[in-house]
Amino acid sequence: MTEVRKPLIAANWKMYKGPRETRDFVGRFAGLYPPRTDRTIVFFPPAISIPAFLDATVGRPDLQVGVQDVHADLEGAHTGAISAPMAAETGVGWGLAGHSERRSEFGDDDADVAGKLRRLLDAGLKPILCVGETLEERTAGRLEEVLRRQIEAALGGLGGRRWSPPVLAYEPVWAIGTGETASPADASEAHAIVREVRLEAPGDAARVVILYGGSVKPDNIDALLGARGVDGVLVGGASLEPASFARICDGRFDPQLL
Ligand code: 13P
Repeated sequence: MTEVRKPLIAANWKMYKGPRETRDFVGRFAGLYPPRTDRTIVFFPPAISIPAFLDATVGRPDLQVGVQDVHADLEGAHTGAISAPMAAETGVGWGLAGHSERRSEFGDDDADVAGKLRRLLDAGLKPILCVGETLEERTAGRLEEVLRRQIEAALGGLGGRRWSPPVLAYEPVWAIGTGETASPADASEAHAIVREVRLEAPGDAARVVILYGGSVKPDNIDALLGARGVDGVLVGGASLEPASFARICDGRFDPQLL
């Protein structure tokens, strides 16, 4: 039986919204966005707001939740950090690894990202591996090399673990929070590269899910979701306001377009 593709639409709230604002958002968003079975919605609130998110969504199991970051160790003297098993215990189902802000602000290198990916899988969470090039790397013609390096390094740490289906987010660093968006054609080109790297890896490569992230907004969601090879989006700034994110979650998607 062929599976019907459905888009994955994810909100990365970064360091916005404590528990109170989280509850307020969910109350308003739920009124604007009734459950739909033809798409998957996942929120990444700050870790401290996860219990509030789960409380507020008791009647809305379609609104899923994940953790923005975990440490590559299981426990230890790492002030401020949380581990993948701790996150799993709170009830989240997903986890991000390799976000460019973790790489640039917190110094996460490819080895850290590989460790985090591995821990997320071991904790039974669904990881989303974020990759993307800087403007400098793009201008120097290094797009493919950078994406390949980031993905291969992360896969190299899996040690035979099954990651199925693999979910990746292509987030060009120059498009994050800048208002600059990759054109649908740019996104398709990069997604084809990501898909090819995955295809060379063992496992269920054909089913790889690739999200686009970087200044996704209500006014470009239809074009981006309509681009070949785009299976969904990872949204920062425009996911912070209920009406804006509800519109994004209703974006037009063609399940036939691969
Ligand atoms: P913006 O949508 O604010 O550009 O952020 C994108 C992002 O980093 C999502 O993870």
